[in-house]
Amino acid sequence: MSGLPTAGRILEVGSGTGVITGEISTRFRGSTFGLDIDPQANAFATAGDPQTCYVTGDGERLPFPEATFDTTLCHFLLMWVPDPGKIISEMSRVTLPGGWVLALAEPDYGGRIDYPKELAEIGELQTKAMANQGSDPYIGRKMRDIFTRAGLLDVLVGVLGGEWTGPPSGEELDSEWRTIGSDLHGTLSSQALATLRQTDLDAWHDGSRILFVPTFYAYGRVA
Ligand SMILES: C[S@@+](CC[C@H](N)C(=O)[O-])C[C@H]1O[C@@H](n2cnc3c(N)ncnc32)[C@H](O)[C@@H]1O
Repeated sequence: MSGLPTAGRILEVGSGTGVITGEISTRFRGSTFGLDIDPQANAFATAGDPQTCYVTGDGERLPFPEATFDTTLCHFLLMWVPDPGKIISEMSRVTLPGGWVLALAEPDYGGRIDYPKELAEIGELQTKAMANQGSDPYIGRKMRDIFTRAGLLDVLVGVLGGEWTGPPSGEELDSEWRTIGSDLHGTLSSQALATLRQTDLDAWHDGSRILFVPTFYAYGRVA
């Protein structure tokens, strides 16, 4: 339904380091294009995925004529932009009639679940910190509205599930705690952060930890 397997030209808006576009370029036969507002991200992406053309530009004013791509997509972009509706309208404009516009993953921190309950405090503080940094932690629930208002047809919106087995790698946990430390800098004392970090690590290792952030996807077809 995404149109990806048969697409001739595929664009990711907000392609960042190229993780998603790079994967698509190896899995599907179409020509891939990435666009990001950050030229350094594009340089990094190009080095790792030379078969994709990475372009610097703003998703609110895509530098492409209308009906250029068979499929356009984004992944963890809409929560960071001031006008997500404008991005989806632009993606629709540059997609061929009958082609698909996809938002593969956008979180909704308002539905975050943490266990053990002491760790819920981190979730609440991080959600506030994200809003203070100018992102929209509640973007997930708005996806159906955004896609419908953009005039897309056959809009389908869903939520990705969750599964928990072993703990994340040490590297993933370190990276997550670097983000938490930066988000909550000045909000919690370093002692309080260290205690919560230890609670988190203990819970991952004793098998009790659950962390779930509902992450929405949306598909729509261009009229
Ligand atoms: C969280 S990253 C996601 C990157 C990639 N999609 C991924 O999932 O790995 C968001 C990206 O959107 C880019 N971005 C933010 N606002 C943008 C805009 N208006 N136009 C294009 N890119 C934008 C940022 O520079 C960043 O690389």
